[in-house]
Amino acid sequence: MSDKYELTKNEWDHVNVYLQQKGLPVDRNVTFDDMPLPDRYSEVRSRPEINDFSTEILPGFELGIPIILANMVSVAGLRSIIAIQREGGLGVPPQMLPLRERLEMLERVGRAECAHIYNPLTIGPEKTLGEAKQLMNKFGIYSLVVVNEEHRPIGILSTRDWKYETDDQKLVQDLMGGRRKLYTASKNISFEEAGEILRKHRIEKLPLVDKHGRLDSLMTAHGLFYKHHHPRATGDGKGQFIKAGSIGVGKRFTPDHLKEVEAQARKGIRLLLIDTARAFSINTKEAIEAIKARFPKLPLMVGNVSAPEGAKALFEWGADIVKVGIGPGAPCTTRHTGIGIPQLSAVAKSAAIAKLYSERGTRRYIVADGGIKNPGDIVKAIIAGADAVMCGGLFIGTVESAAPSYINKDGLRVKNYIGSASFHAQSERMGSGTLDRIRRPEGMAKEMPVIGTMQEVTGEILDGMRSAMSYLGVKSVKELRLKGRFDLPQSSAGLYEGTKKK
Ligand code: XMP
Repeated sequence: MSDKYELTKNEWDHVNVYLQQKGLPVDRNVTFDDMPLPDRYSEVRSRPEINDFSTEILPGFELGIPIILANMVSVAGLRSIIAIQREGGLGVPPQMLPLRERLEMLERVGRAECAHIYNPLTIGPEKTLGEAKQLMNKFGIYSLVVVNEEHRPIGILSTRDWKYETDDQKLVQDLMGGRRKLYTASKNISFEEAGEILRKHRIEKLPLVDKHGRLDSLMTAHGLFYKHHHPRATGDGKGQFIKAGSIGVGKRFTPDHLKEVEAQARKGIRLLLIDTARAFSINTKEAIEAIKARFPKLPLMVGNVSAPEGAKALFEWGADIVKVGIGPGAPCTTRHTGIGIPQLSAVAKSAAIAKLYSERGTRRYIVADGGIKNPGDIVKAIIAGADAVMCGGLFIGTVESAAPSYINKDGLRVKNYIGSASFHAQSERMGSGTLDRIRRPEGMAKEMPVIGTMQEVTGEILDGMRSAMSYLGVKSVKELRLKGRFDLPQSSAGLYEGTKKK
């Protein structure tokens, strides 16, 4: 064992002062249920006053809500990533999926519900409706720009043009709208001007053209007016959803891993998650070094660790965000090996290290990953210093989560929540060729009921957070992180008192 990442005495002093300021014990590690929050004098008159859940996770990059979807195969799929980003959170395609599937997800997230589509899908007028449908299905979209041989737009095949048509042999040119008048605009038009044209002519799509009249990009009414309907949506400021990529580290970080990062970088990712169960390792160090050498400006979220020494090492190597949590998660059994410290202390200690590094220069961030059971745990993770939380169990029961639903033997509609290191997940990876052998499982799979849509579930979580924040007298997540403070640890009778009511 090397002690080169041990904390110095000064660093430990800093961590202990930080814990004391937060009201957390310095002589033992605690988790969410150990630490109740006392109510405080509040000038919040009613809960609807609280609406600011925004949080910074990179310099100049805020999420509308402090929630990242667990990058697990059963949780994060195309629909759930889009759905959580619509609500203001973030979704990352799981690194365990084959690259091809991750790239397709990134492509489709980029095209989903966005205002400005840079390389819109096109079709020729002489193609059949059947061919158009194939293309639309492949990319999960509902309309195409019709272009002539010079790539000039001549019409739009939109939902209303094909939805009621039963003959797939019909030609696109006989179905497309805009045959008499197609509105187009210059590629340099502003969002406001495009919005005016769309509004005035009550059209849904506006092709933008270069000076030769060739198709450059596309503005969509749905996307342009999106902010009105989804004010917190996680956009890139140019009318598209943010895209985040993922990569594992393997036994060694090989040129093939780097090629995977390159392919995702070409899709315009804003952030890369380096995802490994054991991030405080030489494997991760080499991975960060290789990626930093090739993409020095690509922000990195790296995890997981539970010890503050791990956070220190990851920040030293170049991580911008450290993801904390070994074994607290609902499907985790890694603690059966004895490894991992209770989550609230793990988060707070790593947050203390992030604060230290931020004070020395660039701002660094913490994501608390796993063990979040309710809105109160999110509030506690943020008070401990997390900039965002990552949750799987809270969202597996959404209609949109990636796992298929089925009716179980009790007649309940459920989904299978599959731990990434469970036997079940390992078998599936063996089948897809992304794993070489089955290891002792460190996770499990369990049935969870389907409880509602992502919007409903997120809405309930925010309501719970609102309530807590009103008791604490804070009006924003940023204020919560700054002012929140724990009470003394509670006894098991104290925990029972609050949770016994079934
Ligand atoms: P929650 O509590 O939100 O936890 O459901 C989700 C997190 O759990 C981690 N995870 C695992 N940890 N074995 C583990 O020890 C596993 O099989 C496993 N699968 C997921 C992961 O960090 C996830 O975000």
